[in-house]
Amino acid sequence: MVDTYIATDVSDELVEAIRRLVPQLSRSNPPPDRDALQEIIDSDCSALFMCRDDTGILGTLTLIVFRIPTGVRAWIEDVIVDEAARGKGVGRLLNEAAIEHAFSHGAITVDLTSRPSREAANRLYRRIGFVERDTNVYRFSPPEQQGS
Ligand SMILES: CC(C)(COP(=O)(O)OP(=O)(O)OC[C@H]1O[C@@H](n2cnc3c(N)ncnc32)[C@H](O)[C@@H]1OP(=O)(O)O)[C@@H](O)C(=O)NCCC(=O)NCCS
Repeated sequence: MVDTYIATDVSDELVEAIRRLVPQLSRSNPPPDRDALQEIIDSDCSALFMCRDDTGILGTLTLIVFRIPTGVRAWIEDVIVDEAARGKGVGRLLNEAAIEHAFSHGAITVDLTSRPSREAANRLYRRIGFVERDTNVYRFSPPEQQGS
């Protein structure tokens, strides 16, 4: 049976799973260590969603819920399903759990971004009901990284 939950402690299983999953999303950002995972779990703004079955952890997603002058907003980040578990609805389950949590905590919108080259992700988000916004996404990097 597949179960989606919010991580509440930094177990060895969680550390191993995040170490296995993060490189499947990003090769440039090393997986968080125990302290960094604890920080995510302890934060009032973030919720580390995990999905597992009886074989182990299958995927993860991080939801951030925050208040700004225009209301409570939410962002979904770092959606990753293990290669071996893809195409079985795990990504959808994680997103649906996060959206429900965001709305039940007062969020009026849930946002995310995904590079166009991430075909599976873009298809997943559209199927769930995310609608592409007409906006530009900007990023400011430290000067030493600019232009690289
Ligand atoms: C994107 C990702 C999270 C999808 O997870 P998943 O568990 O395989 O997705 P699901 O099984 O819930 O699929 C839901 C929908 O996504 C789409 N989808 C999933 N895998 C797909 C693939 N390989 N190709 C095209 N569409 C795909 C389908 O539309 C599917 O719905 P449908 O079966 O009703 O058509 C997973 O592929 C992944 O971790 N990729 C690497 C990391 C990544 O790109 N993360 C997103 C960062 S923005």
